[in-house]
Amino acid sequence: MGRKVLVTGGAGFIGSHVSEELLRRGHEVAVLDNLSGGSASQVPAAAGFYELDITESVDKAFEDFRPHDVIHLAAQVSVAVSMQDPEMDARINVLGSLNVIRAAVRHGVRRVIYASSAACYGIGEGDILEEDMRCMPASFYGASKYAVEHCLRSAQQDSGLEWAALRFANVYGPRQDPQGEAGVVAIFARLLLDGGKPEIFGGGELKRDYIFVEDVARAVALVLEAELEGRADPVFNCSTAVGTTTNEIYALLKTACSSDVEASAAPWRPGDVQSLILDNSRLRGLVDWSPGVTLEEGISRTAAFFRDAT
Ligand SMILES: NC(=O)c1ccc[n+]([C@@H]2O[C@H](COP(=O)([O-])OP(=O)(O)OC[C@H]3O[C@@H](n4cnc5c(N)ncnc54)[C@H](O)[C@@H]3O)[C@@H](O)[C@H]2O)c1
Repeated sequence: MGRKVLVTGGAGFIGSHVSEELLRRGHEVAVLDNLSGGSASQVPAAAGFYELDITESVDKAFEDFRPHDVIHLAAQVSVAVSMQDPEMDARINVLGSLNVIRAAVRHGVRRVIYASSAACYGIGEGDILEEDMRCMPASFYGASKYAVEHCLRSAQQDSGLEWAALRFANVYGPRQDPQGEAGVVAIFARLLLDGGKPEIFGGGELKRDYIFVEDVARAVALVLEAELEGRADPVFNCSTAVGTTTNEIYALLKTACSSDVEASAAPWRPGDVQSLILDNSRLRGLVDWSPGVTLEEGISRTAAFFRDAT
């Protein structure tokens, strides 16, 4: 049976794809977003919309829509911004998330699914990061994302709220903000299509785990529909478990954008870590899911999106 799902951050990149996937599967969706990063045009027509800020009262959305579940994606999403203004990052990502969690409890929500991040791991302990490994975030952003996992665990202890955290790897695809700092695929695609010259930080040999946004949206929907009761630690990596260097991404994008422009070299940025590759077997053990879109296909679809958006 379809559920009523409130999607915070649903006007943004990942949230709009999550909302579409939920609607496609027969759920009822309302989006809560303050449009600071996202756009109302990305909210699916069939979804409700509450223009609210998670750092202020969000009760109106809960009273009006009466969601069964919440998918919480609204956040300050930039590592660089978190290093420049950690208080602002914590206000939105920690206090704003607490506000959503406490509203969910007050309004009898069954489950909160939280968009956590590979940034929780920071200086990882191994080549492939598993959920039980120690988290040592290397940025304020990573620290704030990790803190909320603990808040959800506390809320479960206190009130029985069900929760799951999906630690997303590097998500890419159509609608990612090419002005943002995180989405290297979107940034490079936009620049190459506009005749610009991308910068590659730290020699281009940083390895990341790139996952196509539709694969992430499907994982979120499946976790919403899964049985979670009794799970001691419902934290799941959402990833491909394959590492790709920035230089490899750049080569694929040059082909997809029909460009022969060489990138220029730029130094390391604070908070960046050498390698972030996430094991995904725990998630695949919970739900019938595996990433379905290859990097070549995903990059080609992303480049096509930005070409059409010109
Ligand atoms: N993109 C990635 O690779 C990635 C990786 C790991 C985790 N995440 C997490 O996934 C979530 C979605 O990220 P995204 O890439 O879609 O970014 P995005 O910027 O496109 O989406 C974030 C949305 O949150 C909204 N928002 C921001 N502050 C708000 C506030 N105070 N009140 C209400 N709404 C607010 C923005 O308007 C935007 O629509 C975030 O929680 C992010 O930390 C993203």
